[in-house]
Amino acid sequence: MKQMHLHDFINRLRELEAEGFADELVLRFLSQHEPTRESLAPYRHFDSEQYARNLIYRDDVFELLLLCWRPHQATPVHDHDGQRGWVRVIEGSLSLINFDRVRTETDLRQIAEGESSPPGSVVLIERNRLVISAGQAIMEVTAPETIHRVGAATTGAVSLHLYSRPIETCFIFDLVSHSCRRGRPRVYSRFDAFA
Ligand SMILES: [Fe+2]
Repeated sequence: MKQMHLHDFINRLRELEAEGFADELVLRFLSQHEPTRESLAPYRHFDSEQYARNLIYRDDVFELLLLCWRPHQATPVHDHDGQRGWVRVIEGSLSLINFDRVRTETDLRQIAEGESSPPGSVVLIERNRLVISAGQAIMEVTAPETIHRVGAATTGAVSLHLYSRPIETCFIFDLVSHSCRRGRPRVYSRFDAFA
């Protein structure tokens, strides 16, 4: 594993962007490289209320976020609107639960931001669970659809997430009422250092 300054890490990602951002090449890069702790420090913010999404960099092709998790903090069950995503765990470990959408009785495209589908309209079943530990990287989001819940284990976690392309909204699923709501992922901190 090679450590490099965050500036160089992003420049390498921009080179991959120029080459088409192929799934395997991005995964290989993330598996073999990590930004230094010092260069990530300005983005390492936790929130006692919920896991914190700290935006490091965003352009038309990809966005890079540092997610900081207190013990047991987790996302709701959500989708990724067709985007691709990779994660490298920096500290602690993350658990992922993947779901399949087995029945949909509504046109999801018609649901505007802040609106929900009717109860009983979207049924998910759990497909699998996995744990990723510090130093591991995986492709966590694949097209056309990934629905999952991501959370920290008992130790908490810090993880670096790369998404392509950036999206504005996604669906949050309610496993009790079998419905979903279109929401906007909240960004806890946003730095303009690379704008
Ligand atoms: Fe996700």
